[in-house]
Amino acid sequence: MNNTVVEIRNLVKHFPVKTGVIMGRTIGNVKAVDDISFGVSQGETFALVGESGCGKTTVANLILKLLDPTSGDILFQGKSLDRASGSEIRQYRKSVQAVLQDPYGALNPRMRVGHIVGEPLEVHGYGRSERTRLVRDALRSVGLPETSDSQFPHEFSGGQRQRIGVARALTLDPSLIVLDEPVSNLDVSIRSQVLNLLKDVQDQRGISFILISHDLASVEHMSHRIGVMYLGKLVELGGAEQICDDPAHPYSASLVAASTPPGRTPPWQIPIVGEVPSAMETPSGCAFHPRCIYAMPVCSQVAPSLTKLPDGRQVSCHLYPDHIGSIDKSASLPGLEFTTSTIGDGGPEVRPVE
Ligand SMILES: Nc1ncnc2c1ncn2[C@@H]1O[C@H](COP(=O)(O)OP(=O)(O)OP(=O)(O)O)[C@@H](O)[C@H]1O
Ligand SMILES: [Mg+2]
Repeated sequence: MNNTVVEIRNLVKHFPVKTGVIMGRTIGNVKAVDDISFGVSQGETFALVGESGCGKTTVANLILKLLDPTSGDILFQGKSLDRASGSEIRQYRKSVQAVLQDPYGALNPRMRVGHIVGEPLEVHGYGRSERTRLVRDALRSVGLPETSDSQFPHEFSGGQRQRIGVARALTLDPSLIVLDEPVSNLDVSIRSQVLNLLKDVQDQRGISFILISHDLASVEHMSHRIGVMYLGKLVELGGAEQICDDPAHPYSASLVAASTPPGRTPPWQIPIVGEVPSAMETPSGCAFHPRCIYAMPVCSQVAPSLTKLPDGRQVSCHLYPDHIGSIDKSASLPGLEFTTSTIGDGGPEVRPVE
């Protein structure tokens, strides 16, 4: 990929699960991130989408170097962070910033906005007058008055607070911002304002984004590519339109169907069935097989790997290449009820509605 800013290769993060709070015995591992690879190009928005608990924030924390990976590598401008010098790591920390989900919890209520927005500059050794200038620039670029620097977070609405969060992420002029559910806690009416602001900022500065969300619909218009995650793995990776208009993996298809507005027909009519299993006891074979209405015997036995399709996207599913042709994606499934209580190794039970 050209102009790749950050690339993650075979990233794995397992959290040990212990019996007691203090010095307990390790009884297993949560495979929060299980061998994920992708790169983000300059000016690109790469969305990571999946249900709660699939490992999105863990990927974010690994990229932000708030967590160390169990294995795998992060490359910044083509160079492995494992082999980077102290000053290169400092440069990486400047170049990769974050905007988090909760605009209420993320800002210290006792600090003035100028201090909050300027904190990353302080950490990186910028002097007072330069900080004041850069903070005011950043506030202006997110549509807030320069004078907001003397106010406290409680004097702002949720949308304005998220703008403060964006300003804070911008001060160090990063190449990549990780946006972890940046609008989930905002009123629907102001979500698009914040997303449009992010898009403008990206257009002006050529910043790359990793945009994390559980909702495909909300990221579609912002994203260039989408990675769909399920239980720590990528199950599909492709262009945003490609995935939203014609999902290839049954799980992506069920996410698309779930976010299709009432009255519209989803491209592949698959209801989302059951709940995400525990990340500590991931199902054998394809982790999605207990929830997949197309599961075949091989699906519970062999884990599929991410493979390229002729249209360029990658998908991890045993339906490819031999079985997908026999599925009628446009067939609605009227009269079928998907029961969540009967999910077992053989897949969910699908029975006619009486
Ligand atoms: N510090 C930790 N210790 C142990 N387990 C953890 C830790 N952080 C995350 N996990 C587990 O790792 C898995 C992935 O969590 P993560 O927060 O990355 O999911 P997510 O996709 O961001 O979910 P959500 O949409 O709810 O934010 C979950 O099973 C979670 O319980
Ligand atoms: Mg999360």
